Amino acid sequence: MCGIVGYAGGDQAAPILLKGLAKLEYRGYDSAGVAVYDGTSIQVVKTKGRLKVLSDKIHQGADLSGVVGIGHTRWATHGKPSDVNAHPHMSQSGKFAVVHNGIIENYLSLRNFLTEQGYRFVSETDTEVVAQLLDYFYEGNLLDAVVKTLGKIRGSYALGILCKDHPDCIIGVRKDSPLIVGLGKGENFIASDIPAILNRTRDIYRLEENEIAVVKKTGVAIYNLDKKIVEKTPCHIDWDISSAEKCGYDHFMAKEIMEQPKAVRDTISPRIRDGEIVLDDIRLTEEQIRNFTRIFIVACGSAYHVGVVAKYIFEQYTRIPVEVDVASEFRYRHPIIDHKVLVLVISQSGETADTLAALREAKRLGARTISIVNVVGSSIASESDDVLYTWAGPEIAVATTKAYSTQLAVVYLLAIYMAEKLGSMSKTDYRFYISQLESLPDKIQEALNTKEHVRRLADQFYRSDDIFFIGRNLDYAMSLEGSLKLKEISYIHSEAYAAGELKHGTISLIEEGTLVVALATQRRLFEKMMSNVKEVKARGAVVLGVTTDNNTQIEKETDCAFYVPQICDMMLPSLAVVPLQMFAYYVAFLKGCDIDKPRNLAKSVTVE
Ligand code: G6P
Repeated sequence: MCGIVGYAGGDQAAPILLKGLAKLEYRGYDSAGVAVYDGTSIQVVKTKGRLKVLSDKIHQGADLSGVVGIGHTRWATHGKPSDVNAHPHMSQSGKFAVVHNGIIENYLSLRNFLTEQGYRFVSETDTEVVAQLLDYFYEGNLLDAVVKTLGKIRGSYALGILCKDHPDCIIGVRKDSPLIVGLGKGENFIASDIPAILNRTRDIYRLEENEIAVVKKTGVAIYNLDKKIVEKTPCHIDWDISSAEKCGYDHFMAKEIMEQPKAVRDTISPRIRDGEIVLDDIRLTEEQIRNFTRIFIVACGSAYHVGVVAKYIFEQYTRIPVEVDVASEFRYRHPIIDHKVLVLVISQSGETADTLAALREAKRLGARTISIVNVVGSSIASESDDVLYTWAGPEIAVATTKAYSTQLAVVYLLAIYMAEKLGSMSKTDYRFYISQLESLPDKIQEALNTKEHVRRLADQFYRSDDIFFIGRNLDYAMSLEGSLKLKEISYIHSEAYAAGELKHGTISLIEEGTLVVALATQRRLFEKMMSNVKEVKARGAVVLGVTTDNNTQIEKETDCAFYVPQICDMMLPSLAVVPLQMFAYYVAFLKGCDIDKPRNLAKSVTVE
């Protein structure tokens, strides 16, 4: 949600800000803007639309001169996307420019208060109150004004602030929304995510809650709310720069789909040693595992769909009952939780507002918490009792693929690990499942090798108006993800149904020619699935089956099929998801959609 970048150094700021924003556009892309101090005043240029519109408007930054500035790419919350609602927002005095990610929850009362004080507002945003409040509190000391402003605002925020009276510095501050400080040579940065600054420095500070960074060309000082200096240790980012580049692919999504074998291998390999699962990143004792009476899995979006798969896996392997919730529901439903409950929180970004709130609620209720997170040092990773990182590397496309696959891999690791400790899995099965897990990366690669076949089928169906996904058991869990993937990037209406449930209503939507994707990978349910296929075919549906290699029986029942390699049934979701991802990608590609930045979506949802 919204990208922030700030620069204080010796080079022209605007082109650097634009380059940084280009790496953050996945966080929001309905408008963009920059503010640069030009030696006399703060110059703001902002516009509705993609970053390119802004970039063209200021000739790739050449029109704005100045060596200190802030930039923003927006995902609208308060006020529709428009030039005036785009960030940065200025105080009426022209003294402060502010970029913001998050929501100022009490902005209306602050706006009323400031209006009474004579401030006039020009935008519909919550952010503008921050710029005006800074101005209201400012009496010559910038840090004082920032601290007083933070004392008044409620909600979640990462802020970048520029003040005309202190033109050599930018301020960065965060609460419930990520912000990092980049430490360069003769230049320093703020950014809401690492890729924004990776081409200029690899050394960063991760700001903690309520820390205030004063960032100048000559150095960075971090303060707490008591205005005391906070000593921090820089951390070095050793990602390969190519991980944040498209490297010849048309889209990040295509690249990330193809990166799945490596991402899954990187996630699994370090945790299997001498034929045993070793999770030395978590501190769960055998006794704690034995005492768990229930597992809750909480997440949003595709991470929630991993949770739906995980329910089947954990229950099958550990025999502990599992409940899965979308985080936005969990947090307000008074869940019945105590210290005997394990709450598993899944999040790629580690910053999703609802997931973070759910984690806090679970902790408050006394649960043991483990997070499965991709972004190292993110809020969810820092706040959970234990974290199991997915080593997917940076994921840029809004629609997740490799993060999903690595989350699933961690679910297998954890479930098998716990089952072995509980004795609910025999030693023989334990060894068998580990060997299956080790074979996953190669099998995902095999599944990827069918991409030309998937593309041909996408060519056949990309003009569909509605596409249904059906499945039973784990295949139902996969249907949810296949359907979401398709609709979020291709804008084709799609629904996922438990195959046996379809006839209780939704089957009335099946017409002559409607495409139904029938997942039938689970051996013991194959016959049942074929009955459901017959039901939809009898209503005129065209059926695309998904099953395992050599199960050619499906061709008798369906019109066409995707095949995935053989593996134990429990791990088939990791393979079945691959053609579904590729199908969604090619359908969106053929429709000419903006695949990496689908309309109205954002990668990291840091608002409620
Ligand atoms: C957004 C993204 C989804 C993602 C969800 C949860 O909606 O577009 O791809 O699954 O957020 O994000 P998280 O970072 O918590 O996994």
